[in-house]
Amino acid sequence: MSIDERQSVLHSWSVQADWRAPTVVGGQGARLHLADGRSVLDMSSLAECSNLGHQHPKLVAAIRAQAERLCFVSNAWGAEPRAQLAAMLLERSGFEGGRVFFTLGGADANENAVKIARQVSRKPRGAVIARDRSYHGATHLAMALSGDSRTQQQVDAAAFGVQHVPPPYAYRCPFGSRDADECGLRAADAVAQRIDALGANSVAAVLMEPNAGTNGIVAPDTYWPALRRATADRGVVLIADEVMSAFGRCGEWFAWQRQGESGRPDMMTLAKGLTGAAVPLGAVVLSRDVAMRLEHEMLYTGLTYCGHPLACAAGVAALEAYAEDGLIERSRKLGAKLFAQAKRLQERHDVIGDVRGGHGLFVVIELVADRDSRAPLAPWPQTPPALKALVDAAMAEGVSFATRGNLILLAPPLVIDENELADAVALLDRLLARHFAPAEVSQ
Ligand SMILES: Cc1ncc(COP(=O)(O)O)c(C=O)c1O
Repeated sequence: MSIDERQSVLHSWSVQADWRAPTVVGGQGARLHLADGRSVLDMSSLAECSNLGHQHPKLVAAIRAQAERLCFVSNAWGAEPRAQLAAMLLERSGFEGGRVFFTLGGADANENAVKIARQVSRKPRGAVIARDRSYHGATHLAMALSGDSRTQQQVDAAAFGVQHVPPPYAYRCPFGSRDADECGLRAADAVAQRIDALGANSVAAVLMEPNAGTNGIVAPDTYWPALRRATADRGVVLIADEVMSAFGRCGEWFAWQRQGESGRPDMMTLAKGLTGAAVPLGAVVLSRDVAMRLEHEMLYTGLTYCGHPLACAAGVAALEAYAEDGLIERSRKLGAKLFAQAKRLQERHDVIGDVRGGHGLFVVIELVADRDSRAPLAPWPQTPPALKALVDAAMAEGVSFATRGNLILLAPPLVIDENELADAVALLDRLLARHFAPAEVSQ
């Protein structure tokens, strides 16, 4: 019998008294195996992180082999898997001549990226521009960077030197545009205007998600290249938070690569899919130019577990698995299919206001009370009760869907079987009909 953790563990992003989740004892592919013997199809890659599915044999073997050889050595010493992973990341991203700073996850990758940007730009207290409706982690600076309605009252962003601008949220464009491309350009222009208002000399960095994020905004294609131009023209470091969007999630190794060289940031932050989530690991990847500016001075940051060999060995195996299993291309192909299927759901269900994403296996379905007015089903970030009921019903039928506010986030492992994916969409179709019958929606 498994030990119940309900009374002993403090669970993140939860009301403790309400936390009751099944215990997972194993997994395979896109499936999780539960202690009660059931198996559940994971349609969110847990926290959009298990891109390689669960218990990928190559990852398990690499972790086992590294554990037998060397579990840990600090970063005052060299470690083979650390060197190998850094070289692979620089090569895959085309950041040859750059450097990689390893962290333990996404939040501290963003923290350290900001520190590095402030150091190399010689603006130790320089402003950082981030955007509303973004998520960059839950450490204090990461919370300040995040434009997250759940936590904006918990932290004084200004005290951290962080400023927010409106997001490229084309479905509800904060600039009043009904054209997605124009909305993307205007959102990038808002960053340019903010830099100009503050004075480029006082801005250390712009930090944004290039594509997928937990807040469910998928920027129009015009956005990232325009942001790159605006920051480059003003000599401001651009940091791409690729914690969720990298490693195939958006159909590329790194989401900015969709735009080719015109999207290349100065730095990017990684975590989640970096090890297929098998072992915690994050990274800040620095361009050659940024790295050169640090070359002959002290780096004022560090972590005991910086470049942990066990995690880096998992990272090497993960990168090999993405390449050998053709998972980046697979995600692009299945993402397009999933997007088309979600669009068909939209034709059948009035409650679906918008479907976006689909560059890879990341598709966002936004539910509305009224399609014409686009009135939200529940005020952001609340989740409508009918959507909660839909998720519970799906779970009872063996499929786990992730939601956020009025959004259903479809982000299964890139290894998901095509039939399983089709079955999950068919289940969603049935459950949308059951839980959002027109009479209920208009209530
Ligand atoms: C875009 C983005 N950045 C940063 C983070 C924080 O990563 P972590 O939870 O590993 O600290 C997340 C987590 O969801 C994320 O989606």
